[in-house]
Amino acid sequence: MKLAPSILAADLADLAGALRVCERGGADLVHVDVMDGHFVPNLTFGVPVVAALARRTALPLDVHLMVERPGDLLADYLAAGAARVAVHWEAAVHLDLLLGRIREGGAAAGVALNPATPVELVIDALPALDFVLVMSVNPGFAGQAFIPGALDKVRRLRELAARAGRRVEIALDGGVGRGNIRSAAAAGVDVAVAGSAVFGAPDPVAALSELRALAASASA
Ligand code: DX5
Ligand code: ZN
Repeated sequence: MKLAPSILAADLADLAGALRVCERGGADLVHVDVMDGHFVPNLTFGVPVVAALARRTALPLDVHLMVERPGDLLADYLAAGAARVAVHWEAAVHLDLLLGRIREGGAAAGVALNPATPVELVIDALPALDFVLVMSVNPGFAGQAFIPGALDKVRRLRELAARAGRRVEIALDGGVGRGNIRSAAAAGVDVAVAGSAVFGAPDPVAALSELRALAASASA
Protein backbone atom coordinates (compact mmCIF):
# COMPACT_ATOMS: atom_id res chain seq x y z
CA MET A 1 0.00 0.00 0.00
CA LYS A 2 1.17 3.52 -0.78
CA LEU A 3 1.00 6.23 1.84
CA ALA A 4 0.02 9.79 1.01
CA PRO A 5 0.29 12.17 3.98
CA SER A 6 -2.13 15.09 3.69
CA ILE A 7 -0.31 18.34 4.41
CA LEU A 8 -3.63 19.98 5.24
CA ALA A 9 -3.13 18.58 8.74
CA ALA A 10 0.44 19.89 9.04
CA ASP A 11 1.62 23.21 10.44
CA LEU A 12 0.60 25.39 7.51
CA ALA A 13 3.26 27.94 8.43
CA ASP A 14 5.89 25.27 7.84
CA LEU A 15 5.07 23.43 4.64
CA ALA A 16 8.76 22.80 3.93
CA GLY A 17 8.90 20.99 7.27
CA ALA A 18 5.86 18.94 6.27
CA LEU A 19 7.62 17.91 3.05
CA ARG A 20 10.65 16.85 5.07
CA VAL A 21 8.42 14.65 7.23
CA CYS A 22 7.01 13.02 4.09
CA GLU A 23 10.50 12.39 2.70
CA ARG A 24 12.03 11.09 5.91
CA GLY A 25 9.00 8.92 6.65
CA GLY A 26 9.17 7.28 3.22
CA ALA A 27 5.86 8.65 1.92
CA ASP A 28 4.99 7.61 -1.61
CA LEU A 29 2.99 10.74 -2.44
CA VAL A 30 2.23 14.11 -0.90
CA HIS A 31 -1.53 14.69 -0.76
CA VAL A 32 -2.49 18.31 -1.39
CA ASP A 33 -6.08 19.30 -0.57
CA VAL A 34 -7.15 22.19 -2.76
CA MET A 35 -10.37 23.83 -1.54
CA ASP A 36 -12.12 26.83 -3.08
CA GLY A 37 -14.51 27.95 -0.34
CA HIS A 38 -17.48 27.01 -2.57
CA PHE A 39 -17.47 23.28 -3.19
CA VAL A 40 -16.41 22.92 0.43
CA PRO A 41 -16.55 25.53 3.19
CA ASN A 42 -12.79 25.96 3.42
CA LEU A 43 -10.09 27.67 1.40
CA THR A 44 -6.62 26.22 1.11
CA PHE A 45 -3.79 25.88 -1.41
CA GLY A 46 -3.64 28.05 -4.52
CA VAL A 47 -1.60 27.37 -7.64
CA PRO A 48 1.54 29.26 -6.48
CA VAL A 49 1.62 27.19 -3.28
CA VAL A 50 1.53 23.95 -5.26
CA ALA A 51 4.25 25.24 -7.58
CA ALA A 52 6.39 26.12 -4.55
CA LEU A 53 5.84 22.64 -3.08
CA ALA A 54 6.86 21.04 -6.39
CA ARG A 55 10.10 23.01 -6.33
CA ARG A 56 10.87 21.75 -2.81
CA THR A 57 10.34 18.02 -3.21
CA ALA A 58 10.85 15.22 -5.69
CA LEU A 59 7.88 13.34 -4.22
CA PRO A 60 4.86 13.24 -6.54
CA LEU A 61 2.16 15.76 -5.60
CA ASP A 62 -1.27 14.17 -5.34
CA VAL A 63 -3.64 17.10 -5.89
CA HIS A 64 -7.20 16.62 -4.64
CA LEU A 65 -9.33 19.35 -6.21
CA MET A 66 -12.30 20.15 -3.99
CA VAL A 67 -13.47 22.99 -6.19
CA GLU A 68 -16.73 23.88 -7.87
CA ARG A 69 -15.31 24.40 -11.37
CA PRO A 70 -12.35 22.04 -11.76
CA GLY A 71 -12.12 22.68 -15.51
CA ASP A 72 -11.18 26.32 -14.90
CA LEU A 73 -8.20 25.41 -12.71
CA LEU A 74 -6.92 22.16 -14.13
CA ALA A 75 -4.34 23.53 -16.56
CA ASP A 76 -2.79 25.76 -13.90
CA TYR A 77 -2.44 22.99 -11.30
CA LEU A 78 -0.96 20.67 -13.94
CA ALA A 79 1.54 23.35 -14.96
CA ALA A 80 2.37 23.88 -11.28
CA GLY A 81 3.68 20.32 -11.14
CA ALA A 82 0.85 18.05 -9.99
CA ALA A 83 1.73 14.40 -10.68
CA ARG A 84 -1.80 13.23 -9.99
CA VAL A 85 -5.05 15.15 -10.01
CA ALA A 86 -8.44 14.07 -8.71
CA VAL A 87 -11.56 16.01 -9.57
CA HIS A 88 -14.78 15.46 -7.66
CA TRP A 89 -17.47 13.47 -9.43
CA GLU A 90 -20.04 15.86 -7.92
CA ALA A 91 -18.34 18.88 -9.51
CA ALA A 92 -17.40 17.35 -12.85
CA VAL A 93 -20.16 17.78 -15.41
CA HIS A 94 -17.91 16.60 -18.26
CA LEU A 95 -15.85 14.08 -16.34
CA ASP A 96 -14.54 12.24 -19.40
CA LEU A 97 -13.18 15.46 -20.89
CA LEU A 98 -11.55 16.51 -17.62
CA LEU A 99 -9.87 13.13 -17.15
CA GLY A 100 -8.56 13.31 -20.70
CA ARG A 101 -7.10 16.75 -20.02
CA ILE A 102 -5.36 15.49 -16.88
CA ARG A 103 -3.70 12.64 -18.78
CA GLU A 104 -2.76 14.93 -21.66
CA GLY A 105 -1.14 17.17 -19.06
CA GLY A 106 1.10 14.25 -18.08
CA ALA A 107 -0.54 13.45 -14.75
CA ALA A 108 -2.47 10.48 -13.42
CA ALA A 109 -6.22 11.08 -13.64
CA GLY A 110 -8.52 10.45 -10.72
CA VAL A 111 -12.07 11.01 -9.59
CA ALA A 112 -13.05 11.63 -5.98
CA LEU A 113 -16.37 10.40 -4.63
CA ASN A 114 -18.20 11.98 -1.71
CA PRO A 115 -19.50 9.54 0.94
CA ALA A 116 -23.03 9.46 -0.52
CA THR A 117 -21.91 9.06 -4.13
CA PRO A 118 -22.08 5.37 -5.20
CA VAL A 119 -18.93 3.84 -6.70
CA GLU A 120 -21.11 2.26 -9.40
CA LEU A 121 -21.33 5.70 -11.05
CA VAL A 122 -17.74 5.49 -12.29
CA ILE A 123 -18.06 2.28 -14.29
CA ASP A 124 -18.13 3.98 -17.68
CA ALA A 125 -15.26 6.26 -16.75
CA LEU A 126 -12.89 3.39 -15.87
CA PRO A 127 -10.96 3.46 -19.16
CA ALA A 128 -10.15 7.14 -18.56
CA LEU A 129 -9.30 6.69 -14.89
CA ASP A 130 -5.98 5.91 -13.21
CA PHE A 131 -7.37 6.10 -9.70
CA VAL A 132 -10.52 6.60 -7.67
CA LEU A 133 -10.37 8.55 -4.41
CA VAL A 134 -13.04 7.17 -2.11
CA MET A 135 -13.86 9.75 0.54
CA SER A 136 -14.28 8.39 4.04
CA VAL A 137 -15.28 11.79 5.43
CA ASN A 138 -17.31 14.63 3.96
CA PRO A 139 -14.61 16.79 2.36
CA GLY A 140 -13.63 20.13 3.84
CA PHE A 141 -11.50 19.53 6.89
CA ALA A 142 -8.83 17.30 8.33
CA GLY A 143 -9.41 15.52 11.63
CA GLN A 144 -12.92 14.20 11.05
CA ALA A 145 -14.19 10.76 12.05
CA PHE A 146 -13.88 7.91 9.54
CA ILE A 147 -17.16 6.83 7.92
CA PRO A 148 -17.01 3.00 8.07
CA GLY A 149 -19.26 2.46 5.02
CA ALA A 150 -16.37 3.66 2.88
CA LEU A 151 -14.74 0.23 3.13
CA ASP A 152 -17.77 -1.43 1.58
CA LYS A 153 -17.48 1.08 -1.27
CA VAL A 154 -13.83 0.08 -1.71
CA ARG A 155 -14.76 -3.60 -1.91
CA ARG A 156 -17.59 -2.89 -4.39
CA LEU A 157 -15.28 -0.81 -6.55
CA ARG A 158 -12.64 -3.51 -6.52
CA GLU A 159 -15.22 -6.08 -7.69
CA LEU A 160 -16.71 -3.77 -10.25
CA ALA A 161 -13.33 -3.01 -11.82
CA ALA A 162 -12.42 -6.71 -11.85
CA ARG A 163 -15.69 -7.60 -13.57
CA ALA A 164 -15.06 -4.89 -16.16
CA GLY A 165 -11.52 -6.21 -16.65
CA ARG A 166 -10.06 -2.84 -15.64
CA ARG A 167 -7.23 -2.08 -13.29
CA VAL A 168 -7.85 1.08 -11.26
CA GLU A 169 -5.97 2.25 -8.20
CA ILE A 170 -8.16 2.82 -5.15
CA ALA A 171 -7.30 5.59 -2.71
CA LEU A 172 -9.04 6.17 0.61
CA ASP A 173 -9.18 9.66 2.08
CA GLY A 174 -10.38 10.91 5.46
CA GLY A 175 -10.03 9.70 9.00
CA VAL A 176 -7.52 7.00 8.09
CA GLY A 177 -5.13 6.04 10.88
CA ARG A 178 -3.71 3.28 12.99
CA GLY A 179 -7.16 2.05 14.03
CA ASN A 180 -8.41 1.32 10.52
CA ILE A 181 -5.49 1.12 8.08
CA ARG A 182 -5.29 -2.68 8.33
CA SER A 183 -8.99 -3.01 7.44
CA ALA A 184 -8.42 -0.56 4.60
CA ALA A 185 -5.55 -2.66 3.25
CA ALA A 186 -7.63 -5.82 3.59
CA ALA A 187 -10.52 -4.19 1.71
CA GLY A 188 -8.22 -3.48 -1.24
CA VAL A 189 -7.07 0.11 -0.73
CA ASP A 190 -3.94 0.86 -2.76
CA VAL A 191 -3.26 4.37 -1.45
CA ALA A 192 -4.05 5.56 2.06
CA VAL A 193 -4.29 9.32 2.58
CA ALA A 194 -3.62 10.29 6.18
CA GLY A 195 -3.55 13.80 7.62
CA SER A 196 -4.07 13.96 11.37
CA ALA A 197 -2.77 10.42 11.92
CA VAL A 198 0.60 11.64 10.65
CA PHE A 199 0.89 15.34 11.42
CA GLY A 200 -1.13 15.20 14.62
CA ALA A 201 1.22 12.56 16.06
CA PRO A 202 4.01 13.55 18.45
CA ASP A 203 6.53 12.04 16.02
CA PRO A 204 5.09 12.28 12.48
CA VAL A 205 7.99 10.36 10.87
CA ALA A 206 7.51 7.46 13.30
CA ALA A 207 3.74 7.62 12.74
CA LEU A 208 4.29 7.13 9.02
CA SER A 209 6.48 4.09 9.62
CA GLU A 210 3.93 2.64 11.98
CA LEU A 211 1.12 3.09 9.45
CA ARG A 212 3.24 1.38 6.80
CA ALA A 213 3.96 -1.57 9.11
CA LEU A 214 0.28 -1.93 10.05
CA ALA A 215 -0.81 -1.89 6.42
CA ALA A 216 1.80 -4.48 5.51
CA SER A 217 0.70 -6.74 8.34
CA ALA A 218 -2.82 -6.81 6.87
CA SER A 219 -1.82 -7.71 3.34
CA ALA A 220 0.74 -10.34 4.41
C1 DX5 B 1 -10.69 16.18 3.61
C2 DX5 B 1 -9.40 15.96 2.88
C3 DX5 B 1 -8.52 14.92 3.49
C4 DX5 B 1 -8.06 15.25 4.87
C5 DX5 B 1 -7.36 14.08 5.50
O1 DX5 B 1 -11.43 17.12 2.93
O2 DX5 B 1 -9.65 15.59 1.55
O3 DX5 B 1 -7.41 14.68 2.64
O4 DX5 B 1 -7.18 16.32 4.89
O5 DX5 B 1 -7.11 14.40 6.82
P1 DX5 B 1 -7.46 13.37 8.00
O6 DX5 B 1 -6.62 12.17 7.73
O7 DX5 B 1 -7.09 14.11 9.23
O8 DX5 B 1 -8.92 13.08 7.87
ZN1 ZN C 1 -7.92 14.89 0.31
